[in-house]
Amino acid sequence: MKPLELSCITGVWKTALGILDENMAGIGSDLQLWFPWGGVWRGHDRNGSLPPTDFPDDLAKPGVTRFGGRFWKAFSLNGITWLLSIRAPMSASAGMESWEMPRPAEDSLRMLGDFVRLECLLGLTMKILENQSREHIGHWDRVRNLSVAIGSEMGLSVRELADIELAAMLHDIGKVGLPEELLAMAGPLSAEDRKKVEAHSLIGSAMIREIPGMEMIAEIVLSHHEAIDGSGYPRGLKFAEIPFGSLIIAVADAFDAMTHYRPYAIERTYHESYNEIRRETGKYAPEVLAALERVLRRLGILEAKPLVGTSEDW
Ligand SMILES: [Fe+2]
Repeated sequence: MKPLELSCITGVWKTALGILDENMAGIGSDLQLWFPWGGVWRGHDRNGSLPPTDFPDDLAKPGVTRFGGRFWKAFSLNGITWLLSIRAPMSASAGMESWEMPRPAEDSLRMLGDFVRLECLLGLTMKILENQSREHIGHWDRVRNLSVAIGSEMGLSVRELADIELAAMLHDIGKVGLPEELLAMAGPLSAEDRKKVEAHSLIGSAMIREIPGMEMIAEIVLSHHEAIDGSGYPRGLKFAEIPFGSLIIAVADAFDAMTHYRPYAIERTYHESYNEIRRETGKYAPEVLAALERVLRRLGILEAKPLVGTSEDW
């Protein structure tokens, strides 16, 4: 499980790591924060994802270590060990090796620790779904990533992004009780089976609503299969009635479903999928589709995976 790469782009992480960076500036430069599961965050790179790196175990010992022109120090807070690394200034004296973490920096790491736990717990829950059927493997994680990317592209607030991120992770949690045979069914579903599958947004949202403070997330999950023309489910809401987060997750969900394995359809290229999704004008919000296009173009995804055949649209 690698929650870092995704959460790094949310405001929660940006805020906490920004505080950390600010408060460490007096000790050294080029702050890096290494995570127990192998990722690294570098203070000067505020734009998000970085490649996972092997955690240097030998540096995670008590006290400050000097290595490669940097100071390394492990901090254990609330059961999570973080390894901080800063470039030692030219004038670094022996005394500097005993530096302590400033209180606000420590608080920000504590907050991140709590958030990491929540993320991992939610991720663990989604593993149950992954074990149930192949189509769920990694789906929740990719939808989460893409939803946050679209939301950021649209300039949503940190709070909105955090809600969308959690809702995207959990959007299909209500499928957890469905029989495996039903999820793996290749042909069209009978009316009765369709009803059972469609109940997942209601069930998932009812499960999430039990958690204090997650009411908005429950609302977003409830409406992630609504369509702007009112043809969606479970309530047949129209555009203005659908929570904005649900509109974003609907697009990310559909795009991921098109580009990855499904028992009932062949996988398409990114380009084909994007062309198909934007033709469904009654289903998805135009501004969300426009943001999806900008994200895909910026990431080079459309260009990297050109259409098999030709497209008159591009
Ligand atoms: Fe769903």
